[in-house]
Amino acid sequence: MKTQVAIIGSGPSGLLLGQLLHTQGIDNVIIEQRSQDYVLGRIRAGVLEQGMVNLLREAGASERMDREGDVHEGVFLAFNGKKVRVDLAGLTGGDTVMVYGQTEVTKDLMDARAKAGLTTIYEADNVQPHDFYTDSPSVTFTKDGEAITLECDYIAGCDGFHGISRKSVPQDKLKTFERVYPFGWLGVLSDTPPVSDELIYAKHERGFALCSMRSATRSRYYVQVPQDEHVEDWSDDRFWDELKKRLPPETATKLVTGPSIEKSIAPLRSFVAEPMKFGNLFLVGDAAHIVPPTGAKGLNLAASDVSTLYRALTATYQEGRADLLEKYSEVCLRRIWKAERFSWWMTSMLHRFGDDDFDQRIAQAELDYVTGSEAGLKTIAENYVGLPYEPLE
Ligand code: APR
Ligand code: PHB
Repeated sequence: MKTQVAIIGSGPSGLLLGQLLHTQGIDNVIIEQRSQDYVLGRIRAGVLEQGMVNLLREAGASERMDREGDVHEGVFLAFNGKKVRVDLAGLTGGDTVMVYGQTEVTKDLMDARAKAGLTTIYEADNVQPHDFYTDSPSVTFTKDGEAITLECDYIAGCDGFHGISRKSVPQDKLKTFERVYPFGWLGVLSDTPPVSDELIYAKHERGFALCSMRSATRSRYYVQVPQDEHVEDWSDDRFWDELKKRLPPETATKLVTGPSIEKSIAPLRSFVAEPMKFGNLFLVGDAAHIVPPTGAKGLNLAASDVSTLYRALTATYQEGRADLLEKYSEVCLRRIWKAERFSWWMTSMLHRFGDDDFDQRIAQAELDYVTGSEAGLKTIAENYVGLPYEPLE
C-alpha cells in the first residue's frame, strides 16, 4: 500500500488532518487500532474555539455543527454562593465559543471521510511507524491476520496519549514535562435540560464542579473527586446531591436531575513532549500533550497542531516549501505552553488541592481578584476563546 501522508489514529486530530489534506488533493490513509463504533462511543469535551470552528468549515465538515451547535458569548464562574459572568464576546471584541460535542465532531469528520472515499483501516493490530529519518518512511500493521506495509512520504502520529508514535521515537531525543493532579473528574451525561444557558465553573470548599451541556435537552455535569475514587460507588442520587452542594443555592434549586446515560471518572494531567517532529514523523494532539479539562483546551490544541501541520504540508507539496515543516514543533509548542499554563492556572484556582487552609485562602483571593477586575476577566476571556493561531511565516 502507498500514500502521501500516513495518519496513525482516527480521533479528532487524525480525521481533521486527513480531511483538510484531502481538500488540497493530498492523499492520506488512516490506520486506527480500534473499531469505528468504539471511537464514536467515547464521551469527551464539547467547547470549540473559533479557530477550530473555522477549520471544520475549511474541511467541509461543518454543516451539522453550524446547524445544531450553540454559540456561547459567556461563561460563569461561581464561588461563595454567587455567580460572576465572564462576558467572552464583550471582553474580546466579539469572540465566542461553539458548544458542540467532540463525539459529534468525530462523527461528522468520519461521514465526510466516507463521502470523499478516503481509506481508513479500523481494528489494525501491531501498528508501527518505521524509517522516519529517511525519505521512505512506512507504517506496518496487521489486519485480519494479514501483515501490511503502508509506504508514505510523511507520518502523522495522531494516536493520542497512549499511542505508539511517541513511544517509537528515540527516547534520548524526547523531553517530557508532566504534572499529575491528586484528583479526577466524575462526569455524568443525562437527558435533562441544562441548569444554565451558559457553562458554570464552580469553586466550593467540597471541591470543583462544572455544569456543561450538549443541547437544550442534554446536560453534562462534573464534580471533582479523589484520585482513587471508584465510579461504582457513585449512584446517580449521590452524584446529584454532591453537585447541588457545590453550586450556588439559586442554581442548585433549579437543577433538573434524571438518570445518567454515561458516568465515568477521568484523571487530570498536564503533559508536554518536546519536540513534536522526528525526521518525517510528526506528533499531533494528545500524542504530544495533555491538559486538565478545566480550560476546555484539549480538543482545541489538537486542532491548532493540525492547522499548522496541514499548512506546512500543503506548502511542501504545492510550492516545494519543505523548510516550513522544520518550524512545526516550535510554532505548535509556543501555543501549547500558553494553553498548558491557562489550564493549569484555572485548575489550581478552582479545585480543592488538600487541607492546607493557607492555600485555600490564596486560591479564593485569586478568584475574587480576577473576577473583580476588568483586566482579570479579560485574561480569562481571551484565553478561553482561544489565543490566535501563529502563522508559519
Ligand atoms: N495504532 C493506531 N491507532 C491508535 C494507536 C495505535 N497504536 N493508539 C491509539 N490509537 C488511536 C486511538 O484508538 C484513538 O482513536 O488513536 C486515536 C487517538 O485519538 P484521541 O485520543 O482522541 O486523540 P486526538 O485525536 O489527538 O484528539 C484530541 O484532545 O484532550 C483531548 O478530548 C480531547 O480526545 C481529544 C483530544
Ligand atoms: C464538557 O462539556 O464536557 C466540558 C466543557 C468544558 C470543560 C470541560 C468539559 O472545560
